[in-house]
Amino acid sequence: MKTKLILLVIFLMAQVNATAQHSIIPIPVNYTATDASFTFQNELSLNSKIKDTQTTTYINLLRDFLSTKGIHLIDKKAKKNCIKISLNKKADAQLRDEGYTLEVTKDNIILSANKAAGIFNGIQTLKQLFPIEKTDTITIAGCAIKDYPRFKWRGLMLDVSRHFFTVDEVKAYINQMSVYKLNVLHWHLTDDQGWRIEIKALPKLTEIGAWRVERHGRFGKDRTAPKPNEKATYGGFYTQEQIKDIVSYAQNRNITIVPEIDMPGHSMAALAAYPELSVKKEPKYVAPGTKFSEWYGGGKFKMLIENTLNPTDEKVYEFIDKVFTEVAELFPGEYIHMGGDEAYHGYWDENVAVQKFMKKHKIKDSHELQSYFVKRVEKIISSKGKKTIGWDEILDGGLADGAAVMSWRGMKGGIAAAKMKHEVVMSPTTFAYIDYMQGDETVENKIYSSLSLEKTYTFEPVPEGVDAKYILGGQANLWTEAVPTMPFAFYMTYPRAFAISESVWSPASSKNWDNFVTRTQIHFDQFDASKTNISKAVLDPIVYVYKKDDKLMCKLKNSIPNSEIYYTINNTYPVQFGTKYTEAFEIPEGDLKLRAQTFINEKPIGRALIIDRTILEKRVDKKPFSLD
Ligand code: ACM
Repeated sequence: MKTKLILLVIFLMAQVNATAQHSIIPIPVNYTATDASFTFQNELSLNSKIKDTQTTTYINLLRDFLSTKGIHLIDKKAKKNCIKISLNKKADAQLRDEGYTLEVTKDNIILSANKAAGIFNGIQTLKQLFPIEKTDTITIAGCAIKDYPRFKWRGLMLDVSRHFFTVDEVKAYINQMSVYKLNVLHWHLTDDQGWRIEIKALPKLTEIGAWRVERHGRFGKDRTAPKPNEKATYGGFYTQEQIKDIVSYAQNRNITIVPEIDMPGHSMAALAAYPELSVKKEPKYVAPGTKFSEWYGGGKFKMLIENTLNPTDEKVYEFIDKVFTEVAELFPGEYIHMGGDEAYHGYWDENVAVQKFMKKHKIKDSHELQSYFVKRVEKIISSKGKKTIGWDEILDGGLADGAAVMSWRGMKGGIAAAKMKHEVVMSPTTFAYIDYMQGDETVENKIYSSLSLEKTYTFEPVPEGVDAKYILGGQANLWTEAVPTMPFAFYMTYPRAFAISESVWSPASSKNWDNFVTRTQIHFDQFDASKTNISKAVLDPIVYVYKKDDKLMCKLKNSIPNSEIYYTINNTYPVQFGTKYTEAFEIPEGDLKLRAQTFINEKPIGRALIIDRTILEKRVDKKPFSLD
């Protein structure tokens, strides 16, 4: 027991050391700081016999990175001032396909792996060891790292339907995620608001389905439907040549793209092009962000406009076959995502022909009809040599053999699928929905829910009682109804993608919030230096109000170690001349605002929150995230 304790202390000290010396995200499995340090100037020799083209591509990316630091990587054998890169002759079983070892000695950097992907991941770590600023002389603190991922699916989902992003923007998103060893881009290519992938056999999908009338401001009731003869000018799509280019760009960053074609619901853009594929066959427009559904809580909803494919029509399966024939040729990865979420069955339930079909095929209700659809689609996808993955609704009415499940309505769908021995990717709203606000709603782009960095960091993809071998990994999802630009996509994604990356790469036992958030702040500097948008909401205070004996009471919290909060409730500022927060306090009645801000060593970090008392009154007992 005692030895175990001593080992634990040594391990924790090594982790703290990791923070002191380097701030690697995700934290490596094994990190040992050494006394050595490697100092060099504008030249390093590359000592490598690698011929493999994929590894050579990765090394060339390292070369490009080094040149941004003013360092030439020259192909010359040398004993000192080298980067030695090699593929193991005899595989190290622990490293598997994506692990690596990396050593910084007083003279050299030594990187090895079993496979090209491991070299890539080692290079990503090595880049994080460099100082952020370009300097004439560079010193890297000595270390020995052995590192490998916990899961093989480490994903981000990018929705390009609600807002369109250009090829260069998608590449920028891919490049940034590769820095954090995320290796799956789930590309949400179709939805009600736009069809974004060229399908040569079905040209109207992009001629019509990729374009909607331009509207501004929030999605919802303030957006109006298209006027008669109004031109659809907002949108775009990726040609097949562009898709091949993006797929290859991703491959060169160890990223597999999983394309999603969402069906049978979320199909309004497809139906705008081919309305005959719906039950009612009425003409449609591509949704410009207008409200066309009603939500009643508990997952119940109604679509006011039909946006669902007709699962009883053979022409629909011919359409799907054409789509997946081309999709399968464009994307070399193992999986195709068929969506399956939020399919409204109301138009199926009220249609006589659909009901007749169900009777004939002994399909007892619309859940079974959805399952019939999913099974047909799964067969089409597997006929193209691919595996099917879908949102957890594909469990409803019976799961198709071999289909993997992406669990988003919490973890329960994933748990059920794993118990049925199906593969699962966990991406629950509760930990992984990065379209949710990450700070106080008075300073964020307001949407209906919140997810703090701290909560995201507690994401554990393997629930108790589930056999871990069925959990492929985890993923964060960026829906883009409220994300119109790529800089804002970065703001919403980072730093929460750091937390996801550490949850799916690093051992659960090495996760430590204080250590993580300290490293995160170093990465803020990295983003600032490259002028990349990142949210620093984690530095803001968290405000919680409640009633005690009719008094309006306020608790403040922040998530940053060694920081303090100052506040005022009398309309005065700056707040450091107010009160240091120590315990819950009363907000008296009156025309006043709460002002609060976090400080470290008397310097403000994060934003000053300014919240009107009337707003606080409305928030009583609404628990913000991460209060306890
Ligand atoms: C989803 O968020 N509708 C998968």
